[in-house]
Amino acid sequence: MKFHSSFFTSVLLAAGTLVLAPGCNKSTQTGSTATDPANEIVIGEVGSLTGNEATFGTSTRDGIRLAIEQINQSGGIQNKKLRVVTMDNQGKPEEAATAVTKLITQDRVIAILGEVASSRSLAMAPIAQTNKVPMVTPSSTNPKVTQVGDYIFRVCFIDPFQGSVMAKFAHGTLKVKKAAILRDVKNDYSVGLANFFTETFKKLGGEVVVDQSYSAGDVDFKSQLTSIKTKEPEAIFVPGYYTEVGLIARQARELGIKAPLLGGDGWDSAKLTEIGGKALEGSYFSNHYSPDDTSEHVQKFIAAYKAKFGGVPDGLAAMGYDAAMVLADAMKRAKTLEKDDIREALANTKDFQGVTGRITIDHDRNAVKPAVVLEVKSGGFAYKETINPS
Ligand code: PHE
Repeated sequence: MKFHSSFFTSVLLAAGTLVLAPGCNKSTQTGSTATDPANEIVIGEVGSLTGNEATFGTSTRDGIRLAIEQINQSGGIQNKKLRVVTMDNQGKPEEAATAVTKLITQDRVIAILGEVASSRSLAMAPIAQTNKVPMVTPSSTNPKVTQVGDYIFRVCFIDPFQGSVMAKFAHGTLKVKKAAILRDVKNDYSVGLANFFTETFKKLGGEVVVDQSYSAGDVDFKSQLTSIKTKEPEAIFVPGYYTEVGLIARQARELGIKAPLLGGDGWDSAKLTEIGGKALEGSYFSNHYSPDDTSEHVQKFIAAYKAKFGGVPDGLAAMGYDAAMVLADAMKRAKTLEKDDIREALANTKDFQGVTGRITIDHDRNAVKPAVVLEVKSGGFAYKETINPS
């Protein structure tokens, strides 16, 4: 297909999006179209817009876009408009590292939003830290991410909490005594969450009867599931991402395993049930937000998101929105728009009312927030309960 280039550009500008430099370093821009750089604030975003975790990146990007649009419409920050340069990493840590380097050295961004996946945030964080560029991950939950240094923040809870939420839910609500684990050994998030779940589940008196592993990208899980089946667990904890979890669920049912699967936020995608179909009905996972939440700020966000993009936002979109809003709030409070002052203001974030809860950044640059448990029901996700941090 061929467009006349000025037509192409104006269509894209009208959509508020400008596609630059095609090829592997493809970036997309949202927000300010100021011609004078003095009138804008440039932020970088890195996400998996393509690949096996594409919905993580696209939902987060849309949540960020909505936030940026709202901030710019209400006057911007210190008389400047925000512009976000978004880069795709195809779900690969090495691409995430390249992207963040390019954003810092070429686009001269003063802050970074991303990544979703902990392994990719871990590839980016040392680069942001060395260059003293504040980085806010919307939803990377592995504790190691913010331990990289004092420029690295997150607006979500961490996995020691998330693991305990699902262990308590399994033991307390589902009355599970014997659990199995099936973890993705290529994924820092999955390994961490499996360990944290095990810790709490054992403390509560439960037993992990078998602990199996796979690697992201695998498509055949039959041998692991066969050895899990012989141990007769009452639930299987699968802290992976939606593509593999969907396949695991199908193959588990094909092998006659009836136990529910349990998981974490990595299940959060409309693709989960597209891939897993009925096999996931009656399974449960922990998450950052539920669209069933009737509070006004949540419903307002859902309405604005629907008006702009058409669908109900998932947790990733809500976290992307909150991350951008928390960063904007810090920029408004910062003494100047220098990176160090933004860092300082981020560290002082207190009681910020986000869509995913009240956000206070603690000493370790993490947010302490409740989690929700969702049930896979009729092809969608139904709210089950909220668990507060103790
Ligand atoms: N918490 C996951 C990680 O750290 C990423 C994730 C967050 C995935 C929210 C889906 C939803 O890797």
